[in-house]
Amino acid sequence: MHSTPPHCSKPAQPLSIQGALQRAAQLLARASSDSPQQEAHILLQTVTRQSLTQVMCSLQRILTTDEAKLLEECLQRRLAREPLQYILGHATFRGCHIHLNHHVLIPRPETELLIDVAHDVLDHATTRVQVPLIIDVGTGSGAVAVSLACELPHARVVAIDTSAQALQVARTNICANHADDRVTLIRGDLVSMIGRNTDVVVANLPYIPTDELSHLAPEISQHEPLVALDGGPDGLRLQRRICEEAIHVLKPGGWLLVEIGHSQSHPVTHMLSSVHWDRVDIVRDLSGIPRVIAARSRDPQR
Ligand SMILES: C[S@@+](CC[C@H](N)C(=O)[O-])C[C@H]1O[C@@H](n2cnc3c(N)ncnc32)[C@H](O)[C@@H]1O
Repeated sequence: MHSTPPHCSKPAQPLSIQGALQRAAQLLARASSDSPQQEAHILLQTVTRQSLTQVMCSLQRILTTDEAKLLEECLQRRLAREPLQYILGHATFRGCHIHLNHHVLIPRPETELLIDVAHDVLDHATTRVQVPLIIDVGTGSGAVAVSLACELPHARVVAIDTSAQALQVARTNICANHADDRVTLIRGDLVSMIGRNTDVVVANLPYIPTDELSHLAPEISQHEPLVALDGGPDGLRLQRRICEEAIHVLKPGGWLLVEIGHSQSHPVTHMLSSVHWDRVDIVRDLSGIPRVIAARSRDPQR
């Protein structure tokens, strides 16, 4: 059961930037924000269209009517536990500006590890491929595909999603980040539309068990798309499928990189224990939490 959002009546008189910052931070703190001061600063930068330095240098300035109105709208949305990234309409992922709406998951910092592992496996491939083919399955906003294309300009990326609305967002991001000559978008179910010549499959698919969805923070459960979260009864519905299906599209010696949820390292490793895979690594994040399973398809020539 979630608490009612804190009461947010409009301020009686026009506020200075300093007054607005204080009021926003207090309200956000009462609405369970982890970083109310920082969010208040970001909202003030957004409504005044100024940098943090400019905001801090004009604390005594009175907000215009339009700025005050926009701030109230943003605050109301945030107090209803809408994530700040949806209110702003964007996020940053590996330095790339990523446009967002409610049809796509907000890209998480922990997903950046998938990109690091993709670099590693391509750097250490026994046969260096001139133009590696990378599949980003479950592309959502396209954040992973965009980063891969920007950081590996010699690679070709195919980004797949079942959601037509998500693919629209991904297209916007691919064009805005000038990666449209290297990324192809496909609407499809996992890798069913792909041939057998892939070097790396990168997968951040929904992995939260259905029963756990309602226990998540309202920012997630009430605002992020269910299709991006729900991993079925045990959270492993799509992990199981990608572990079975990826082998049919990978070259011998190609890699499957799967982002995993809490407690999924053992089951997912087990799914990759067949003779088709000759190496399976658990990759941990900086806090030591297993985040990615990296599996190499067996190369009969090796
Ligand atoms: C957890 S989100 C990941 C989004 C993005 N890759 C990221 O890391 O921010 C999972 C995505 O997988 C997509 N998806 C769900 N089932 C799928 C399927 N069977 N085939 C392809 N994509 C699927 C969802 O629409 C959603 O966009």
